[in-house]
Amino acid sequence: MARSLNYFFIIMSRNICSGVHWVGAIDFSLRLFDALVPTPDGTSYNAYVVQGAARTALIDTVEPGLMDDLFTNLDQAGITRLDYVVINHAEQDHSGSLPEVLKRFPEAMVVTNDKCKAQLALLFDLAPERFRIVKDRETLDLGGKTLEFIFAPWVHWPETMFTWLREDKILFSCDFLGAHLGTSDLFVNDLSEIYEPAKRYYGEIMMPFRSHIKSHLEKLATLPIAMVCPSHGPLHRQPEHILGAYRDWVSDRVRNEVVIPYVSMHGSTEKMVQIFTRDLIARGVTVKPFDLTKTDLGKLAIALVDAATVVFATPTVLLGAHPQAILAAYLTNALKPKTRFISFMGSFGWAGKTTDQLAKILDQLKAETIPPLIIKGAPRSQDFEAIGKFADDITTRHRAAGLFADQN
Ligand code: FEO
Repeated sequence: MARSLNYFFIIMSRNICSGVHWVGAIDFSLRLFDALVPTPDGTSYNAYVVQGAARTALIDTVEPGLMDDLFTNLDQAGITRLDYVVINHAEQDHSGSLPEVLKRFPEAMVVTNDKCKAQLALLFDLAPERFRIVKDRETLDLGGKTLEFIFAPWVHWPETMFTWLREDKILFSCDFLGAHLGTSDLFVNDLSEIYEPAKRYYGEIMMPFRSHIKSHLEKLATLPIAMVCPSHGPLHRQPEHILGAYRDWVSDRVRNEVVIPYVSMHGSTEKMVQIFTRDLIARGVTVKPFDLTKTDLGKLAIALVDAATVVFATPTVLLGAHPQAILAAYLTNALKPKTRFISFMGSFGWAGKTTDQLAKILDQLKAETIPPLIIKGAPRSQDFEAIGKFADDITTRHRAAGLFADQN
């Protein structure tokens, strides 16, 4: 990914604890990651140096457009020799500077797992003799600093792993527990500062792998973690905060919420959404409507993390759903939220297959489909009544699932 246009650089290595430095790069201005993920708060690419009495390791590199920052930070930290470059994750925002790092530090060996080596080989021409392949839970002694490699596949690629620094109880967690947040703060001071960016990151990147995330959290529960150093965003000195948030997000618990991704062309579907929203609120259900012509899709991903129900609302265009609704359904299906119920609503003029089309797109979701509400033309009084019954249906299901506060 190219450096964002308004990028201005922050060059400074920062000490985390004795022998451990942050040497990454911050991009405050990035607004779209991987030409896909909105990043309204920028991001950082965290790289770390661990210095033992005998050896020095760099953990991950940075997005290649920012590699000058990495090298300047290494210089500033006084790093003239690297024995190892640990690659926890092959994606280019962390591995992209690796070829240049290996040129500048010809003695350095790449420490990673077999799968990651294979993935790196798809991206770069790296000499096989530069690799030291590790197994799950293998350790590397730097001299008073012991790195242990913990395989953690599917956070969010198949080759991902964590690096655990035993003596300092630091977990270098790659993308896991991270957040796209460009901030001058090295550490999270309060979870509220990071909660939304972290939930956004979970929703966009980690949610499709919820069962894997759950098992990794269980594995990590056996470690006395004092600090989490992710690859994006500030570091966690109170790791229980972010670990607790993740445990909540991966759990099977859903909230008494209805998310409504909607689009309207002539106002009929929007009117339906307005009445539906009002009716749900009156029944004690939280509603999160998203006008798909305006919304930041990351906000939709956040809402999908724990809502009980998603109702897609769209007019019929050329016999099918509006393209914006198709995109929202496609993204929802790809992100695989733990949604219990899905449904559809909207207006059509003469004929259409909107509901069937969207239902097919959503084939990965393990959600029950509530009978949709599709009307002909602009909503009128009999339609208002039907919308009320639709809201009743959802409310009844939420109550049956024990989602109302007065049931707890
Ligand atoms: Fe931050 Fe999956 O790379």
